[in-house]
Amino acid sequence: MAKTKVEFVCRECGSSQPQWAGQCLDCKAWNTLEEVVLSQATSSKPESLKDLPPSKVQNLSDIKSEHRQRLTTGLTELDRTLGGGLVDGSVVLIGGDPGIGKSTLILQAMAAINKTNTTLYVSGEESAEQISDRAIRLNIHEDILLLSETHLEKIIKLAKEVKPKVIVIDSIQTMVTDGSTSAPGSVTQVRDCAAQLTQFAKQTNTILLMIGHVTKGGALAGPRILEHMVDAVLYFEGDAGGRYRIIRAVKNRFGAVNEISVFAMGETGLVQVENPSAIFLSNQAKPSPGSMVMVTREATRPLMVEVQALVDQAGGNPKRVSVGLEQNRLALQLAVLHKHGGVATHDQDVFVNVVGGIKVNETASDLVVMLAIMSSLRDKVIPNDWIAFGEVGLTGEVRPVYNAIERLQEAQKHGFKVAIIPKGNIPKKAPKGLKIVPVEYLYQALQYMSENT
Ligand code: TYD
Ligand code: MG
Repeated sequence: MAKTKVEFVCRECGSSQPQWAGQCLDCKAWNTLEEVVLSQATSSKPESLKDLPPSKVQNLSDIKSEHRQRLTTGLTELDRTLGGGLVDGSVVLIGGDPGIGKSTLILQAMAAINKTNTTLYVSGEESAEQISDRAIRLNIHEDILLLSETHLEKIIKLAKEVKPKVIVIDSIQTMVTDGSTSAPGSVTQVRDCAAQLTQFAKQTNTILLMIGHVTKGGALAGPRILEHMVDAVLYFEGDAGGRYRIIRAVKNRFGAVNEISVFAMGETGLVQVENPSAIFLSNQAKPSPGSMVMVTREATRPLMVEVQALVDQAGGNPKRVSVGLEQNRLALQLAVLHKHGGVATHDQDVFVNVVGGIKVNETASDLVVMLAIMSSLRDKVIPNDWIAFGEVGLTGEVRPVYNAIERLQEAQKHGFKVAIIPKGNIPKKAPKGLKIVPVEYLYQALQYMSENT
């Protein structure tokens, strides 16, 4: 008998390793590796997919793009994040912490789509009554087809009968297929179910929305293991306790990545925030040390965010904690501050945080993070009408960033008065009332700060 081959897949990040270990080598999560039997290549399709229309060869030049209409979700902000709406036959994964509002958002979108198309909402977590309660709360009275089921073969069988335009699977981690004997929520089950559903969607040109919980502690396989299979991945950001939710496209085959939309959770569901520019500022009446504002522009719109830093005498091993920013970048920024700014933090705990639970992935945040750290360390208040942005290189140079003009205009619109920016970004004409402080090296920014605060 042939020896069965196994590999070990991380439930958090989906990376596979040939051997078991206590910690995932890639994402460093503990105790998340799960044994997966590599299936022997079989030519036979799963039973559920057998009577689908066969795939056919087409000529590239015969395929007309105007056929590809986008289906609107009724939420213009969500459509924008998706790149203009849902594309026929596309598979979208929507991930986020439990309780953040995934089911709410999707139910709202389904209500809009259902006005013109048949939609099927499959819930493996909630009963039809629970979904109905939510619909009443959201004031939704559409005839959305509901199915409370976790058995994949039954779901596909029903989908073949009712031929919906859109299928929602809430959540993919509750689904089980006959083809796999592993526990529900395990890597094998989640992957197999997602693969079959995706194949079904592609062959029948159905739009598939899969909801996935992001799990802390790795009891369930996280949605990251599915990212490579699907066309678009949306993640919810922001804390479930707060009012605002950010939805970010981390992958999109039909639009821009990193596009975000902002929603506010209210009594009757999620309401889109059409001009979210300034909502992530803490709006303290009296500015305090350690805080500074930057303008990010990761998506197609600028956004004002506030970076806060706390630097304090370390009790033992100095801590470096960064929330909402890249953790590894913090160590680098502290090293550059030391080498090129003459500021030592090796005996200090350093915490940095972006207000409002939003994540900033762009390197244009370097300068503002370093200035906020200095502000906390020296206990000097940065005036709350200052902004900064710029990437700081390992040699202490401040590098230009994209879309500087747009960032400056946004800052001016919100009444900011001073902008510390890379020299390479000096605009031909500065926005009225905004003083531009161009810096070529980090020390110049630090100098300006110490002379003017
Ligand atoms: P839900 O969509 O069930 O979250 P998920 O599917 O991501 O687990 O949303 C749950 C939270 O949202 C819950 O704490 C209640 C809150 N909520 C509101 O504040 N307003 C509303 O109108 C609804 C429907 C939910
Ligand atoms: Mg839910």
